[in-house]
Amino acid sequence: MSEFLVDKKRTHSCNALRTSDVGKSVVLMGWVAHRRDHGGRVFIDLRDREGLTQVVFGPEIGKEAHELASELRSEYCIGIAGKVVTRVSSGGQPNPKLATGEVEVNAEELHIFSRSETPPFLIEDEIDTREEIRLKHRYLDLRRPALQRNFLVRSKLYRAARDYFHGEGFTELETPFMVKYTPGGARNFLVPSRLNPGNFYALAESPQIFKQLFMVAGFERYFQIVRCFRDEDLRLDRQPEFTQVDVEMSFITEEDIFTTMEGLIRRIWKDVQDVDLPRSFQRMSYHEAMLKYGSDKPDLRFGLELADLTDVLRPLDGGGVPLFKTALEQKGIIKALRIPAKEAASLSRTEADKLEEFVKGFGARGLARARVGENGDWTQSPLSKTVTPEARAAVNAALGAGPGDLLFFQFGSFKLVNAVLGGLRLHLGHKLGLIPEGQWRFLWVTDFPMFEQNESGQWVAAHHPFTSPKPEHVQHLGAENGRVEARAYDLVLNGNEIAGGSIRIHQREVQAKVFAALGLSEDDFRAKFGFLLDAFKYGPPPHGGIAFGLDRLAMLLCNAGSLRDVIAFPKTQKGTDLMTDAPTGVAPEQLDELGVQLKKV
Ligand code: AMO
Repeated sequence: MSEFLVDKKRTHSCNALRTSDVGKSVVLMGWVAHRRDHGGRVFIDLRDREGLTQVVFGPEIGKEAHELASELRSEYCIGIAGKVVTRVSSGGQPNPKLATGEVEVNAEELHIFSRSETPPFLIEDEIDTREEIRLKHRYLDLRRPALQRNFLVRSKLYRAARDYFHGEGFTELETPFMVKYTPGGARNFLVPSRLNPGNFYALAESPQIFKQLFMVAGFERYFQIVRCFRDEDLRLDRQPEFTQVDVEMSFITEEDIFTTMEGLIRRIWKDVQDVDLPRSFQRMSYHEAMLKYGSDKPDLRFGLELADLTDVLRPLDGGGVPLFKTALEQKGIIKALRIPAKEAASLSRTEADKLEEFVKGFGARGLARARVGENGDWTQSPLSKTVTPEARAAVNAALGAGPGDLLFFQFGSFKLVNAVLGGLRLHLGHKLGLIPEGQWRFLWVTDFPMFEQNESGQWVAAHHPFTSPKPEHVQHLGAENGRVEARAYDLVLNGNEIAGGSIRIHQREVQAKVFAALGLSEDDFRAKFGFLLDAFKYGPPPHGGIAFGLDRLAMLLCNAGSLRDVIAFPKTQKGTDLMTDAPTGVAPEQLDELGVQLKKV
């Protein structure tokens, strides 16, 4: 008898057989998804990464195979050989839900490669098993068809990107993971050096400096699909190790980067989704995005734009509302979100009350609101008691508010007001069902501020300190940092930041001015980035680049809710790997060898 694997090779995947295959002898391999005994026969659904095929064992089909089949249980890994028949011909019913649902295989031979204990959860898509249990047995979780599909998409994504870059004359190059630690930027993971006790490498948060050095080295067009490491607080769209599609180009402007990257995205969507995207993507300045959407990554699939009322209410001294007046005195801003009557009708008073709790999560102290009456008056609102008719009319006009509309107000710092109303806009977009499925809204956000102030009022680089300021803003460096805009851009998709980049500084004098604006002496900078400054002495080309979050792209392409659904072995919110139990303690001798001593906690 011929042997499975050796000369009995798999002939088809478990998603391949159709009525046109009836009569063929086939060999299938995979896992037992379900098993039923029926009228002296054993039916199993055999599963591999492609799909399911029904396999039938009966005494008249293959006596030995039928006897062995009584031992089969879920997740046994098996091979079968037999003949394809239609389900109808053997007295069954087609299953229209399965691609192979018209046929089944009469198994003449069965080989059990390995047996399985009862798995801790069903290997199916619609299960409500807690994520912790799934992550502990990730290899089983990954067997589920939905996750198998996600990783096939991810694999196609790598391929589309690589094909595109090679076709466009890019060179794929690698950069080190273990790099020099430089404070600032994301928090780094540290790796102690055994050969240099007391010294540490950092795990690279991105290849930023190295890719710029590739430009100095003359590679001109670089790309890399690269792992990055950041010790950040984790969210659904953030993992401590994640993958970037990293790009740097010489002798280019922003326009060249936009065009090349639009080509990349179009190629990915075509190859992975068979979707044709438009030639170029919409653009919006950071200023406009914040004004209208309260976010630098606006979701443009729905409206609900915000309006700034600061300049409306300032001449009216707050319009009779004491809280507005105080906010203006404290140099704050006042903005509002208008929910049109049609949508507002579905928001009850209690639901609107609940929104107040929701926005507290963004740091709001409250959420003033008003429902607009027939003649433009405000009801259901503490504001209505004091607001002057003039102010009310001016606000209604600025918002385009009419009867039945619901208005939500927020006042205070620029950051808080936009975080609250931007967050509320998104929340209501989902809640009111305003976000259409299956739409891809790409947006380049441009003209970012070069600097931002941290909590202690210090200026820090908003992107990184090698980002080029706009040439016309160089004159403001130092004196008016708040006015300086950067040649930086992000690509946003359906409200997710999927890429970020910039044109870099290649002139030493500009770099020196940026360091000075950050309050750093050349010596300070030399200590951190001396090698880059040295390299820039030798004819650096004008250059710029961008990096895509590959995991985020995969998450969106798979319509997944979390990066964990597209990263094979992800970390939990607490940065742990539940399957391997990492991180763990290590033996004292190992620490000794590294010259590291633990603090008692
Ligand atoms: P940036 O820090 O914006 O830029 O990162 C680029 C893109 O990487 C993704 N990303 C993440 N994805 C998952 N988990 C994380 N923790 C995470 N952090 C970032 C985002 C983001 O848009 N060197 C620059 C790029 C450049 O200037 O060329 C950089 O790293 O999608």
